[in-house]
Amino acid sequence: MVVKVVILAAGQGKRMVSSLPKVLHTLAGQPLLGHVIKTALKISTISPIVVYGYQGDKVQASFQKEPIKWREQKEQLGTGHAVLTALPDIADDDQVLVLYGDVPLISENTLKKLIANTPQHEIGMVVAHFDDPKGYGRIKRDSQNKLCGIVEEKDATAKELAICEINPGIYLFPAEYLKKSLPNITQNNTQKEYYLTDCIGKAVQEHREIYTIEPLFNEEVMGVNDRKQLAELERFYQRQTADQLLQQGVMLYDPARLDIRGDVNIGVDVTIDINVILEGSVTIGDGCLIGPNCVLRNVNLGERVEVKANSVLDGAVIAADSIIGPFARVRPGTVLEPGTHIGNFVEVKNSTIGAGTKINHLSYVGDSEIGKQVNIGAGTITCNYDGANKHKTIIGDHTHIGSDTQLVAPVTIGAGATIGAGSTITKDVPANYLTLTHRIEQRTIKDWQRPEKKE
Ligand code: UD1
Ligand code: CA
Repeated sequence: MVVKVVILAAGQGKRMVSSLPKVLHTLAGQPLLGHVIKTALKISTISPIVVYGYQGDKVQASFQKEPIKWREQKEQLGTGHAVLTALPDIADDDQVLVLYGDVPLISENTLKKLIANTPQHEIGMVVAHFDDPKGYGRIKRDSQNKLCGIVEEKDATAKELAICEINPGIYLFPAEYLKKSLPNITQNNTQKEYYLTDCIGKAVQEHREIYTIEPLFNEEVMGVNDRKQLAELERFYQRQTADQLLQQGVMLYDPARLDIRGDVNIGVDVTIDINVILEGSVTIGDGCLIGPNCVLRNVNLGERVEVKANSVLDGAVIAADSIIGPFARVRPGTVLEPGTHIGNFVEVKNSTIGAGTKINHLSYVGDSEIGKQVNIGAGTITCNYDGANKHKTIIGDHTHIGSDTQLVAPVTIGAGATIGAGSTITKDVPANYLTLTHRIEQRTIKDWQRPEKKE
């Protein structure tokens, strides 16, 4: 028997109060459905079948790169109807693993346990015990404690509402059973929907046993129906990720104040101060220091890089022993060679900065190639944009650019050149000499008096 995964993702998610379909809301920077797809791909090599519907174009567009078999549910008539929509892609001798697109943190381990615990041709499901079962379908058991059905909260009696064993919505069915049972369920309930959960009740009536397992953490099976639940799951995920990093030898000054929204690869003896956000694909080499309030997005830091407080780094490759910030902004396309210094209020975009070069204060460097051991004085601006096109600035090794210089691109500064402070450089500059532009003569007016404040 092969396992085919069906993921239900057609619903709108009204309780999110949002124009975005619920399964596209993000947890740790990734859509809820993305988490489920990623886990499904670890369980079965066969493409998961995703049932889509509400704002289907948007949902499909978000997962173009994933190997998915899409099935459209034109009208959202309930979870049972949604699985029915997927049946044409399923052979009679398949095993069908049903997952809900709004239960994002279900783990590979729990699903493997479910598959291992369920005999072939039998039905298995995950159950959990919640202190607060509100919002979930409740598991009904008979006098012998055998599972005998699921009742939705909206259809439950007061007695049933008190049950704390819940249905997370994760089931393993033999396909031939679903094909026989699904066409016969009815909309005979408060919500007038075809409930997938009715298949479980029907199976019990046919004297089939339901094989159940429980997850390692309850959070794995928590559904996201509103933003409060989403925020709670986000905190759980972040705390788990932070704990893993601590175990791995990363020092977090406060594990509750680090957020990871992507895939990170962090070396040993890295220290991360509070309120740091790591997004996308982030690599941090051994011995790096990340100061408070920094955002690192798609960056690769070599060993012993120090990123000081309040810096924002995006799309950059930063070599060993560089020092960035405080208050630096490093934008996409930036490559910093070893031992560079990018100081406060410096913005660097789409530029290569050579080894040992310092840009320590208040500068904008864009579309530039800067050599090694260069000193860029405070307030230097590469004027890279003429209003229509971007142009390049090339600065040779060992140059010294005086403070408050404007380099009007395209322009090349020869190696070893010195530029006098306050120059506006519009033509290429030869190597080794001092170049400066005309300066207004300095005057001192000796009998001048400061105005006094009037009464
Ligand atoms: C469902 C279960 C409930 C369980 C809970 C777990 C049913 C009838 N109820 O309730 O027992 O405790 O999940 O989180 O199954 N969907 C479709 N098409 C539809 C309806 C829903 O694709 O026509 C999708 C939704 O996009 C969602 C998932 O199925 O991803 C669950 O639907 P939702 O309406 O959230 O069900 P719950 O009321 O939470
Ligand atoms: Ca739900």
